[in-house]
Amino acid sequence: MSTTTSQTPAHTRSSSAALFDEARRLFPGGVNSPVRAFGAVGGTPLFIDKGAGPHIWDADGQRYIDFCCSWGPLILGHAHPVVQERIMQAVSQGTSFGAPTRLENELGGLILDHHPHAERIRFVSSGTEAAMSAIRLARGVTGKSKILKFDGCYHGHVDALLVKAGSGLATLGTSTSAGVPEAYARETLVLPLNDLEALEATMKQYAHELAVVAIEPIPANNGLLIQDPAFLQGVRDLCDRYGVLLLFDEVISGFRVAFGGAAEYYGIRPDVMAFGKIIGGGMPVGAYAASAEVMDHVAPVGPVYQAGTLSGNPVAMAAGAGQLSECLKPGFYEDQERRTGRLVNPILAHAASKGYPLRIFTRGSIFWLAFSDQVHIRRSSEIDPDSMAYFSRLHGALLERGVYLGPSGYEVGFVSAAHGDAVIDEAVSAFTEALDAVFS
Ligand SMILES: Cc1ncc(COP(=O)(O)O)c(C=O)c1O
Repeated sequence: MSTTTSQTPAHTRSSSAALFDEARRLFPGGVNSPVRAFGAVGGTPLFIDKGAGPHIWDADGQRYIDFCCSWGPLILGHAHPVVQERIMQAVSQGTSFGAPTRLENELGGLILDHHPHAERIRFVSSGTEAAMSAIRLARGVTGKSKILKFDGCYHGHVDALLVKAGSGLATLGTSTSAGVPEAYARETLVLPLNDLEALEATMKQYAHELAVVAIEPIPANNGLLIQDPAFLQGVRDLCDRYGVLLLFDEVISGFRVAFGGAAEYYGIRPDVMAFGKIIGGGMPVGAYAASAEVMDHVAPVGPVYQAGTLSGNPVAMAAGAGQLSECLKPGFYEDQERRTGRLVNPILAHAASKGYPLRIFTRGSIFWLAFSDQVHIRRSSEIDPDSMAYFSRLHGALLERGVYLGPSGYEVGFVSAAHGDAVIDEAVSAFTEALDAVFS
Protein backbone atom coordinates (compact mmCIF):
# COMPACT_ATOMS: atom_id res chain seq x y z
CA MET A 1 0.00 0.00 0.00
CA SER A 2 1.41 3.38 -0.92
CA THR A 3 0.78 6.76 0.62
CA THR A 4 -2.38 6.98 -1.52
CA THR A 5 -4.01 4.93 1.23
CA SER A 6 -3.21 7.56 3.86
CA GLN A 7 -6.90 8.00 4.25
CA THR A 8 -7.54 9.23 7.75
CA PRO A 9 -5.91 12.52 8.63
CA ALA A 10 -7.04 13.63 12.07
CA HIS A 11 -9.29 16.37 10.70
CA THR A 12 -11.57 13.76 9.13
CA ARG A 13 -12.45 12.35 12.56
CA SER A 14 -14.93 15.07 13.41
CA SER A 15 -17.94 12.74 13.80
CA SER A 16 -16.03 10.48 16.21
CA ALA A 17 -14.89 13.55 18.13
CA ALA A 18 -18.47 14.86 18.43
CA LEU A 19 -19.75 11.44 19.54
CA PHE A 20 -16.98 11.24 22.11
CA ASP A 21 -17.96 14.65 23.50
CA GLU A 22 -21.49 13.39 23.94
CA ALA A 23 -20.28 10.08 25.42
CA ARG A 24 -18.22 11.89 28.04
CA ARG A 25 -21.44 13.29 29.48
CA LEU A 26 -22.92 9.81 29.62
CA PHE A 27 -20.14 7.42 30.66
CA PRO A 28 -17.07 7.68 32.92
CA GLY A 29 -14.32 8.86 30.58
CA GLY A 30 -16.75 8.54 27.68
CA VAL A 31 -16.41 4.76 27.46
CA ASN A 32 -17.82 1.52 28.81
CA SER A 33 -14.42 -0.17 29.18
CA PRO A 34 -11.31 1.85 30.06
CA VAL A 35 -8.79 0.99 27.35
CA ARG A 36 -11.22 2.16 24.66
CA ALA A 37 -10.60 5.73 25.79
CA PHE A 38 -7.29 6.05 23.85
CA GLY A 39 -5.65 7.24 27.09
CA ALA A 40 -2.45 5.34 26.24
CA VAL A 41 -2.07 6.65 22.69
CA GLY A 42 -3.66 10.08 22.90
CA GLY A 43 -6.42 11.56 20.78
CA THR A 44 -10.06 10.60 20.82
CA PRO A 45 -11.35 7.11 20.21
CA LEU A 46 -12.80 6.17 16.86
CA PHE A 47 -16.50 5.41 17.03
CA ILE A 48 -17.17 2.36 14.90
CA ASP A 49 -20.27 2.15 12.73
CA LYS A 50 -19.80 -1.23 11.10
CA GLY A 51 -17.48 -4.08 10.31
CA ALA A 52 -17.19 -6.62 7.48
CA GLY A 53 -14.50 -9.29 7.21
CA PRO A 54 -11.12 -7.75 8.11
CA HIS A 55 -12.42 -4.16 7.98
CA ILE A 56 -14.18 -1.67 10.23
CA TRP A 57 -15.61 1.72 9.32
CA ASP A 58 -15.64 4.66 11.69
CA ALA A 59 -18.36 7.26 12.17
CA ASP A 60 -16.66 9.45 9.55
CA GLY A 61 -16.90 6.71 6.95
CA GLN A 62 -13.16 5.86 7.02
CA ARG A 63 -12.22 2.23 6.51
CA TYR A 64 -9.53 0.43 8.51
CA ILE A 65 -7.96 -3.02 8.46
CA ASP A 66 -8.79 -4.19 11.97
CA PHE A 67 -6.25 -6.13 14.05
CA CYS A 68 -8.09 -5.56 17.33
CA CYS A 69 -10.99 -7.81 16.30
CA SER A 70 -13.02 -6.81 19.36
CA TRP A 71 -10.02 -7.81 21.54
CA GLY A 72 -10.03 -11.38 20.28
CA PRO A 73 -13.52 -12.84 19.91
CA LEU A 74 -13.72 -12.31 16.13
CA ILE A 75 -11.46 -15.09 14.88
CA LEU A 76 -13.49 -15.19 11.66
CA GLY A 77 -13.51 -11.42 11.23
CA HIS A 78 -16.51 -9.11 11.32
CA ALA A 79 -20.03 -10.14 10.37
CA HIS A 80 -19.03 -13.61 9.18
CA PRO A 81 -21.95 -14.96 7.13
CA VAL A 82 -22.24 -18.25 9.06
CA VAL A 83 -22.24 -16.48 12.43
CA GLN A 84 -24.64 -13.80 11.22
CA GLU A 85 -27.03 -16.38 9.80
CA ARG A 86 -27.03 -18.32 13.08
CA ILE A 87 -27.68 -15.12 15.05
CA MET A 88 -30.57 -14.06 12.78
CA GLN A 89 -32.09 -17.51 12.97
CA ALA A 90 -31.86 -17.56 16.77
CA VAL A 91 -33.23 -14.02 17.17
CA SER A 92 -36.19 -14.89 14.98
CA GLN A 93 -37.20 -17.47 17.62
CA GLY A 94 -36.92 -15.08 20.60
CA THR A 95 -33.92 -13.81 22.54
CA SER A 96 -34.04 -15.34 26.02
CA PHE A 97 -36.16 -17.87 27.89
CA GLY A 98 -34.51 -18.50 31.25
CA ALA A 99 -35.04 -22.18 30.51
CA PRO A 100 -32.78 -24.71 28.79
CA THR A 101 -32.51 -24.65 25.00
CA ARG A 102 -31.11 -27.09 22.44
CA LEU A 103 -28.58 -24.42 21.45
CA GLU A 104 -26.81 -24.77 24.82
CA ASN A 105 -26.47 -28.49 24.13
CA GLU A 106 -25.12 -27.76 20.68
CA LEU A 107 -22.37 -25.37 21.81
CA GLY A 108 -21.57 -27.35 24.96
CA GLY A 109 -21.32 -30.57 22.94
CA LEU A 110 -19.17 -28.93 20.29
CA ILE A 111 -16.69 -27.78 22.91
CA LEU A 112 -16.57 -30.92 25.03
CA ASP A 113 -16.35 -33.28 22.05
CA HIS A 114 -13.24 -31.53 20.75
CA HIS A 115 -11.44 -30.32 23.86
CA PRO A 116 -8.85 -32.68 25.37
CA HIS A 117 -9.52 -31.80 29.03
CA ALA A 118 -13.05 -30.42 29.40
CA GLU A 119 -15.68 -32.99 30.46
CA ARG A 120 -18.38 -30.65 31.73
CA ILE A 121 -18.90 -26.96 31.17
CA ARG A 122 -21.02 -24.14 32.61
CA PHE A 123 -21.84 -21.10 30.47
CA VAL A 124 -21.74 -17.60 31.95
CA SER A 125 -21.79 -14.19 30.30
CA SER A 126 -18.20 -12.89 30.34
CA GLY A 127 -14.60 -13.90 30.84
CA THR A 128 -14.57 -12.13 34.20
CA GLU A 129 -17.51 -14.20 35.36
CA ALA A 130 -15.79 -17.35 34.09
CA ALA A 131 -12.57 -16.65 36.05
CA MET A 132 -14.50 -15.62 39.16
CA SER A 133 -16.65 -18.76 39.07
CA ALA A 134 -13.69 -21.04 38.36
CA ILE A 135 -11.95 -19.69 41.43
CA ARG A 136 -15.00 -20.17 43.61
CA LEU A 137 -15.21 -23.73 42.29
CA ALA A 138 -11.54 -24.38 43.12
CA ARG A 139 -12.08 -23.07 46.63
CA GLY A 140 -15.22 -25.16 47.00
CA VAL A 141 -13.51 -28.33 45.78
CA THR A 142 -10.39 -27.98 47.92
CA GLY A 143 -11.91 -26.34 50.97
CA LYS A 144 -8.96 -23.91 50.95
CA SER A 145 -9.20 -20.17 50.52
CA LYS A 146 -5.98 -18.63 49.16
CA ILE A 147 -5.30 -18.31 45.45
CA LEU A 148 -2.10 -17.58 43.58
CA LYS A 149 -1.74 -15.49 40.44
CA PHE A 150 1.19 -14.24 38.39
CA ASP A 151 2.22 -10.67 37.93
CA GLY A 152 1.41 -9.66 34.34
CA CYS A 153 -1.58 -12.00 33.96
CA TYR A 154 -5.08 -10.54 33.78
CA HIS A 155 -8.17 -12.51 34.68
CA GLY A 156 -10.90 -9.91 34.35
CA HIS A 157 -12.03 -7.47 37.01
CA VAL A 158 -12.60 -10.10 39.69
CA ASP A 159 -11.99 -8.49 43.13
CA ALA A 160 -9.51 -11.13 44.29
CA LEU A 161 -7.57 -10.87 41.03
CA LEU A 162 -7.19 -7.10 40.82
CA VAL A 163 -4.12 -7.58 42.91
CA LYS A 164 -0.42 -6.99 42.48
CA ALA A 165 2.60 -8.18 44.39
CA GLY A 166 3.33 -6.44 47.66
CA SER A 167 6.91 -6.43 48.87
CA GLY A 168 9.02 -9.52 49.41
CA LEU A 169 9.45 -12.69 47.41
CA ALA A 170 6.52 -14.91 48.36
CA THR A 171 4.09 -12.20 48.83
CA LEU A 172 0.52 -11.51 49.80
CA GLY A 173 -1.08 -9.23 47.26
CA THR A 174 -2.21 -5.65 47.51
CA SER A 175 -5.18 -4.44 45.52
CA THR A 176 -4.71 -2.53 42.28
CA SER A 177 -8.17 -0.97 42.31
CA ALA A 178 -9.99 1.22 44.76
CA GLY A 179 -12.98 -0.66 46.08
CA VAL A 180 -11.18 -3.97 46.56
CA PRO A 181 -10.80 -4.58 50.30
CA GLU A 182 -7.24 -5.33 51.38
CA ALA A 183 -8.65 -8.36 53.21
CA TYR A 184 -9.63 -9.82 49.82
CA ALA A 185 -6.25 -8.95 48.33
CA ARG A 186 -4.50 -10.76 51.17
CA GLU A 187 -6.20 -13.97 50.04
CA THR A 188 -4.24 -13.68 46.80
CA LEU A 189 -0.54 -14.48 46.47
CA VAL A 190 1.26 -12.89 43.56
CA LEU A 191 4.47 -14.16 41.99
CA PRO A 192 6.56 -13.26 38.95
CA LEU A 193 6.14 -15.43 35.87
CA ASN A 194 8.99 -17.75 34.87
CA ASP A 195 10.27 -18.37 38.40
CA LEU A 196 9.71 -21.95 39.53
CA GLU A 197 11.92 -21.51 42.60
CA ALA A 198 9.69 -18.75 43.94
CA LEU A 199 6.63 -20.88 43.19
CA GLU A 200 8.04 -23.88 44.98
CA ALA A 201 9.00 -21.82 48.03
CA THR A 202 5.49 -20.34 48.11
CA MET A 203 3.86 -23.73 47.69
CA LYS A 204 5.89 -25.10 50.59
CA GLN A 205 4.75 -22.28 52.81
CA TYR A 206 1.12 -22.01 51.75
CA ALA A 207 0.02 -25.35 50.24
CA HIS A 208 -2.29 -26.11 53.17
CA GLU A 209 -4.17 -22.84 52.50
CA LEU A 210 -3.82 -22.63 48.71
CA ALA A 211 -6.80 -23.68 46.57
CA VAL A 212 -5.61 -22.82 43.09
CA VAL A 213 -2.82 -21.43 40.96
CA ALA A 214 -4.33 -19.27 38.19
CA ILE A 215 -2.34 -18.49 35.07
CA GLU A 216 -2.84 -17.25 31.55
CA PRO A 217 -0.75 -20.00 29.91
CA ILE A 218 -0.14 -17.57 27.06
CA PRO A 219 -0.13 -14.27 28.96
CA ALA A 220 -1.54 -11.74 26.49
CA ASN A 221 -2.68 -8.79 28.56
CA ASN A 222 0.66 -7.12 29.34
CA GLY A 223 2.35 -7.66 26.07
CA LEU A 224 2.59 -11.25 24.88
CA LEU A 225 4.74 -12.89 27.54
CA ILE A 226 5.57 -16.20 25.89
CA GLN A 227 6.43 -18.67 28.64
CA ASP A 228 9.02 -21.39 28.45
CA PRO A 229 7.01 -24.64 28.17
CA ALA A 230 9.26 -26.03 30.93
CA PHE A 231 7.93 -23.34 33.26
CA LEU A 232 4.32 -24.23 32.46
CA GLN A 233 5.04 -27.92 32.97
CA GLY A 234 6.84 -27.04 36.21
CA VAL A 235 3.74 -25.18 37.44
CA ARG A 236 1.65 -28.27 36.63
CA ASP A 237 4.09 -30.56 38.47
CA LEU A 238 4.25 -28.35 41.57
CA CYS A 239 0.44 -28.15 41.71
CA ASP A 240 0.31 -31.96 41.63
CA ARG A 241 3.00 -32.30 44.26
CA TYR A 242 1.38 -29.87 46.68
CA GLY A 243 -2.29 -30.75 46.10
CA VAL A 244 -3.26 -27.42 44.54
CA LEU A 245 -5.57 -27.06 41.52
CA LEU A 246 -4.28 -25.48 38.31
CA LEU A 247 -6.54 -22.99 36.54
CA PHE A 248 -5.72 -22.12 32.95
CA ASP A 249 -7.37 -18.84 32.04
CA GLU A 250 -7.86 -19.46 28.33
CA VAL A 251 -10.17 -16.52 27.73
CA ILE A 252 -7.78 -15.29 25.01
CA SER A 253 -5.80 -18.43 24.14
CA GLY A 254 -8.74 -20.85 24.12
CA PHE A 255 -9.90 -21.74 20.58
CA ARG A 256 -7.29 -19.21 19.35
CA VAL A 257 -3.94 -21.04 19.27
CA ALA A 258 -5.64 -24.44 18.85
CA PHE A 259 -9.20 -25.58 19.44
CA GLY A 260 -8.05 -26.91 22.81
CA GLY A 261 -6.20 -23.65 23.52
CA ALA A 262 -2.83 -23.53 25.27
CA ALA A 263 -3.63 -26.82 27.04
CA GLU A 264 -3.63 -28.56 23.66
CA TYR A 265 -0.85 -26.39 22.20
CA TYR A 266 1.57 -27.23 25.02
CA GLY A 267 0.12 -30.63 25.93
CA ILE A 268 -0.40 -29.63 29.57
CA ARG A 269 -3.50 -30.61 31.52
CA PRO A 270 -5.16 -27.94 33.66
CA ASP A 271 -7.66 -28.89 36.37
CA VAL A 272 -10.04 -26.02 35.65
CA MET A 273 -10.35 -23.74 32.62
CA ALA A 274 -11.90 -20.33 32.03
CA PHE A 275 -13.12 -19.48 28.52
CA GLY A 276 -14.67 -16.44 26.87
CA LYS A 277 -14.29 -14.32 23.74
CA ILE A 278 -14.20 -16.76 20.75
CA ILE A 279 -16.84 -19.13 22.15
CA GLY A 280 -19.44 -16.36 21.86
CA GLY A 281 -18.82 -15.44 18.22
CA GLY A 282 -18.88 -11.75 19.21
CA MET A 283 -21.78 -12.09 21.65
CA PRO A 284 -21.27 -11.88 25.44
CA VAL A 285 -20.30 -15.37 26.64
CA GLY A 286 -17.88 -16.96 29.08
CA ALA A 287 -17.62 -20.48 30.42
CA TYR A 288 -15.71 -22.57 32.88
CA ALA A 289 -14.98 -26.24 32.48
CA ALA A 290 -13.20 -29.13 34.16
CA SER A 291 -13.53 -32.86 34.70
CA ALA A 292 -17.04 -34.13 35.43
CA GLU A 293 -15.93 -34.88 38.99
CA VAL A 294 -14.79 -31.30 39.63
CA MET A 295 -17.71 -29.66 37.80
CA ASP A 296 -20.20 -31.71 39.77
CA HIS A 297 -19.34 -29.54 42.76
CA VAL A 298 -21.37 -26.78 41.05
CA ALA A 299 -25.02 -26.18 41.94
CA PRO A 300 -27.53 -27.74 41.52
CA VAL A 301 -25.50 -30.96 41.87
CA GLY A 302 -22.96 -29.67 44.36
CA PRO A 303 -22.59 -26.97 47.00
CA VAL A 304 -20.75 -24.29 44.93
CA TYR A 305 -23.40 -21.73 44.01
CA GLN A 306 -23.29 -19.96 40.66
CA ALA A 307 -26.17 -18.80 38.44
CA GLY A 308 -27.10 -16.32 35.70
CA THR A 309 -30.32 -14.92 34.21
CA LEU A 310 -28.82 -14.73 30.73
CA SER A 311 -26.37 -17.65 31.04
CA GLY A 312 -26.45 -19.84 27.94
CA ASN A 313 -28.34 -17.15 26.09
CA PRO A 314 -29.67 -18.70 22.88
CA VAL A 315 -28.48 -15.95 20.55
CA ALA A 316 -24.97 -16.11 22.00
CA MET A 317 -24.98 -19.93 21.90
CA ALA A 318 -25.96 -19.89 18.23
CA ALA A 319 -23.25 -17.36 17.37
CA GLY A 320 -20.64 -19.40 19.24
CA ALA A 321 -21.71 -22.67 17.64
CA GLY A 322 -21.53 -21.08 14.18
CA GLN A 323 -18.06 -19.72 14.83
CA LEU A 324 -16.60 -22.84 16.45
CA SER A 325 -17.88 -25.05 13.61
CA GLU A 326 -15.73 -22.98 11.27
CA CYS A 327 -12.72 -23.27 13.59
CA LEU A 328 -13.06 -27.06 13.49
CA LYS A 329 -12.52 -27.21 9.72
CA PRO A 330 -9.27 -29.01 8.78
CA GLY A 331 -6.22 -26.77 8.61
CA PHE A 332 -7.94 -23.79 10.26
CA TYR A 333 -5.27 -23.16 12.89
CA GLU A 334 -2.35 -23.85 10.57
CA ASP A 335 -3.80 -21.28 8.19
CA GLN A 336 -4.16 -18.74 11.00
CA GLU A 337 -0.48 -19.15 11.81
CA ARG A 338 0.49 -18.82 8.16
CA ARG A 339 -1.44 -15.55 7.82
CA THR A 340 0.22 -14.21 10.93
CA GLY A 341 3.66 -15.04 9.52
CA ARG A 342 2.75 -13.29 6.28
CA LEU A 343 2.00 -10.16 8.29
CA VAL A 344 4.81 -10.25 10.78
CA ASN A 345 7.84 -11.52 8.80
CA PRO A 346 8.09 -8.71 6.23
CA ILE A 347 7.55 -6.07 8.92
CA LEU A 348 10.39 -7.58 10.95
CA ALA A 349 12.60 -7.80 7.85
CA HIS A 350 11.95 -4.12 7.12
CA ALA A 351 12.67 -3.10 10.71
CA ALA A 352 15.89 -5.15 10.71
CA SER A 353 17.05 -3.64 7.42
CA LYS A 354 16.56 -0.16 8.88
CA GLY A 355 17.97 -0.99 12.31
CA TYR A 356 14.70 -0.21 14.12
CA PRO A 357 14.48 -1.80 17.60
CA LEU A 358 11.40 -3.91 16.94
CA ARG A 359 10.45 -7.45 17.81
CA ILE A 360 7.09 -9.05 17.17
CA PHE A 361 6.17 -11.94 19.43
CA THR A 362 3.51 -14.35 18.18
CA ARG A 363 1.58 -17.45 19.25
CA GLY A 364 -0.87 -18.74 16.67
CA SER A 365 -2.70 -15.68 15.37
CA ILE A 366 -1.85 -13.48 18.38
CA PHE A 367 0.91 -10.94 17.85
CA TRP A 368 2.54 -8.22 19.94
CA LEU A 369 4.90 -5.47 18.88
CA ALA A 370 7.71 -4.80 21.32
CA PHE A 371 10.04 -1.88 20.69
CA SER A 372 12.96 -3.78 22.10
CA ASP A 373 15.99 -5.87 21.14
CA GLN A 374 15.32 -8.53 23.78
CA VAL A 375 15.05 -12.09 22.46
CA HIS A 376 12.58 -13.11 25.19
CA ILE A 377 10.18 -11.01 27.23
CA ARG A 378 8.67 -13.37 29.76
CA ARG A 379 7.65 -10.97 32.55
CA SER A 380 5.82 -7.67 32.48
CA SER A 381 8.72 -6.14 34.46
CA GLU A 382 10.93 -6.79 31.41
CA ILE A 383 8.88 -4.38 29.29
CA ASP A 384 10.48 -0.95 29.09
CA PRO A 385 7.69 1.59 29.80
CA ASP A 386 9.59 4.21 27.77
CA SER A 387 9.21 2.02 24.66
CA MET A 388 5.47 2.75 24.74
CA ALA A 389 6.15 6.19 23.27
CA TYR A 390 7.10 4.43 20.00
CA PHE A 391 3.85 2.47 20.05
CA SER A 392 1.85 5.58 20.63
CA ARG A 393 3.37 7.21 17.54
CA LEU A 394 2.99 4.02 15.51
CA HIS A 395 -0.69 3.76 16.46
CA GLY A 396 -1.40 7.24 15.10
CA ALA A 397 0.66 6.66 11.96
CA LEU A 398 -1.20 3.40 11.29
CA LEU A 399 -4.60 5.02 11.74
CA GLU A 400 -3.59 7.56 9.12
CA ARG A 401 -2.76 4.66 6.82
CA GLY A 402 -5.98 2.77 7.41
CA VAL A 403 -4.88 0.19 10.00
CA TYR A 404 -6.50 -0.14 13.43
CA LEU A 405 -4.68 -1.66 16.43
CA GLY A 406 -5.96 -1.77 20.00
CA PRO A 407 -5.02 1.60 21.55
CA SER A 408 -2.28 0.48 23.95
CA GLY A 409 1.21 -0.86 23.41
CA TYR A 410 0.61 -3.43 26.15
CA GLU A 411 -2.22 -4.99 24.14
CA VAL A 412 -1.82 -7.76 21.60
CA GLY A 413 -3.21 -7.83 18.06
CA PHE A 414 -5.21 -10.58 16.40
CA VAL A 415 -5.24 -11.88 12.84
CA SER A 416 -8.55 -13.38 11.72
CA ALA A 417 -9.51 -15.87 9.03
CA ALA A 418 -10.94 -12.91 7.10
CA HIS A 419 -7.51 -11.28 6.74
CA GLY A 420 -6.77 -12.58 3.25
CA ASP A 421 -3.37 -12.33 1.64
CA ALA A 422 -4.10 -9.10 -0.27
CA VAL A 423 -5.35 -7.37 2.88
CA ILE A 424 -2.35 -8.57 4.86
CA ASP A 425 0.03 -7.33 2.17
CA GLU A 426 -1.74 -3.97 2.25
CA ALA A 427 -1.31 -3.88 6.02
CA VAL A 428 2.40 -4.74 5.71
CA SER A 429 2.92 -1.68 3.48
CA ALA A 430 1.07 0.48 5.99
CA PHE A 431 3.20 -0.87 8.84
CA THR A 432 6.51 -0.33 7.04
CA GLU A 433 5.54 3.23 6.05
CA ALA A 434 4.30 3.93 9.58
CA LEU A 435 7.52 2.59 11.11
CA ASP A 436 9.54 4.83 8.80
CA ALA A 437 7.41 7.76 9.97
CA VAL A 438 7.93 6.83 13.64
CA PHE A 439 11.70 6.58 13.31
CA SER A 440 12.20 9.46 10.86
C1 LIG B 1 -7.14 -13.78 30.04
C2 LIG B 1 -8.40 -13.03 30.34
N1 LIG B 1 -9.19 -13.42 31.34
C3 LIG B 1 -10.34 -12.80 31.62
C4 LIG B 1 -10.74 -11.70 30.91
C5 LIG B 1 -12.03 -11.02 31.22
O1 LIG B 1 -12.93 -11.23 30.19
P1 LIG B 1 -14.15 -10.21 29.98
O2 LIG B 1 -13.55 -8.94 29.49
O3 LIG B 1 -15.01 -10.90 28.96
O4 LIG B 1 -14.82 -10.07 31.28
C6 LIG B 1 -9.94 -11.23 29.85
C7 LIG B 1 -10.33 -10.05 29.08
O5 LIG B 1 -9.63 -9.55 28.24
C8 LIG B 1 -8.75 -11.92 29.56
O6 LIG B 1 -7.94 -11.52 28.58
